[in-house]
Amino acid sequence: SILILDFGSQYNQLIARRIREMGVYAEIVPYFTPIEDIKSMKPKGIILSGGPASVYLEEAPTLDKEIYELNIPILGICYGMQLTMHLLGGKVDKADKQEFGKAELIIDKNKSKFFNEIPKKSQVWMSHADHVVEIAPGFEKLAHTDSSIAVLADEEKRIYTVQFHPEVTHSVYGKNILKNFVFEIAKCEKNWSMENYIEKTIKEIRERVGDKKVILALSGGVDSSVAAVLIHKAIGDNLNCFFVDTGLMRKDEAKKVMETYGKNFKMNIECINAEDRFLTKLKGITDPEEKRKIIGKEFIDIFEEQKQKFKDADFLAQGTIYPDVIESQSIKGPSSTIKSHHNVGGLPEEMEFELLEPLRELFKDEVRKVGKELGIPEYMIDRHPFPGPGLGIRILGEVTKEKADILREADDIFIEELRKNKLYDKVSQAFVVLLPVKSVGVMGDERTYEYTAVLRSANTTDFMTATWSHLPYELLEKVSNRIINEVKGINRLAYDISSKPPATIEWE
Ligand code: XMP
Repeated sequence: SILILDFGSQYNQLIARRIREMGVYAEIVPYFTPIEDIKSMKPKGIILSGGPASVYLEEAPTLDKEIYELNIPILGICYGMQLTMHLLGGKVDKADKQEFGKAELIIDKNKSKFFNEIPKKSQVWMSHADHVVEIAPGFEKLAHTDSSIAVLADEEKRIYTVQFHPEVTHSVYGKNILKNFVFEIAKCEKNWSMENYIEKTIKEIRERVGDKKVILALSGGVDSSVAAVLIHKAIGDNLNCFFVDTGLMRKDEAKKVMETYGKNFKMNIECINAEDRFLTKLKGITDPEEKRKIIGKEFIDIFEEQKQKFKDADFLAQGTIYPDVIESQSIKGPSSTIKSHHNVGGLPEEMEFELLEPLRELFKDEVRKVGKELGIPEYMIDRHPFPGPGLGIRILGEVTKEKADILREADDIFIEELRKNKLYDKVSQAFVVLLPVKSVGVMGDERTYEYTAVLRSANTTDFMTATWSHLPYELLEKVSNRIINEVKGINRLAYDISSKPPATIEWE
């Protein structure tokens, strides 16, 4: 496997994903992971990631120099290059001007294995303010760009460092560079596949759980569903799932979940109808944060009740995935709260259960592959994300059953038309928002005075930034006609053309 030491670059998850796509397991750990732990993980190669700091500053993240003596091949990327130079006797300084964007990589030492099947000149992606001014002893320049040293290596010690970012697609042969490091230098074998993962995980679950009982809150989302099916495959009826119908779910959601997992997969699953509970608590509440808190609290209360019911269970299963794990071990401080997020089953601190998290090692696309492999229908796995608080944050102002029913119908039409027109997979998240605003319209000869709804569709890769989808006018027209004609309670429709930032994807 390949171990990635995290120095805080925003591209770190990309490095791991690229390597896993090659069939090799890659794991990300913080840069300050003790050297003993690193040794015991027995990686075949170590990657030092990029990062925002400057190596010559006192508080800069650093490494135990012993790492260079382990006889494990090392690839340093950007900050990883600079730190290597800094620690091994070279020098790094502020560059006269930042280098950001595309650059031409020119290879000086063609015969290095590091450059297997890479042309002498190719495009790479740079993003740095510091650069190497003195090369550490033992290192040789293998490639350059117009304005900087691009690749430095001590080939005898199998330490390679690059100033550019091979993990981003703008580095045209970046994948080949990573591949060369992984296979030619670190001599990894291909043994990471979802079939293997399923087999290995089922075995592990059986060993760990034995004939004890497990409970799981199934939200209907990808992660908890795939976790549930996987665990069910391992231990069958000793898995008890419950699904909370908050009354704030999409149209027919409870029915679909019960049918897919209860009926087809024959899992033990209870549907808890909590619509009245949630709506009663939300009565008269209009402040978005207050709504979020009420919904979150109600989830936890229901969860506590379920725990009482399943007192004899030893394990609590959750659909935690790898990005959640990385985020919680992240070297960065907590970022400021813009909205208080919570997920179904966002759990209280003190728990009497052992946690069972069979997807902890997987990225989202890997979770989806596992789901497909396990036979979960595609329309359940390829769905857009749906926020924990559900329609509660898509009905602006006070939430009522009447409004939730109206919104469900409108949203269903929008999604149905997107699917019909093969656009559903082209956008990252699409939904309808209901405004607490009524306006005048005319239908037949009648005056109407009804709600206004808004179509929202966003394109994004990481949900941190997003642009609005440029949906075809024909589709917008069709959706508008259908919603206004078919959904009683809406007589006006708008299209949200704000990007994130400064707007957010959801409206609350
Ligand atoms: P925003 O509105 O912050 O949303 O741009 C970014 C992504 O996060 C989802 N979201 C949530 N997901 N619990 C969740 O599980 C929440 O409380 C929550 N709030 C927002 C949102 O749907 C979008 O995908």
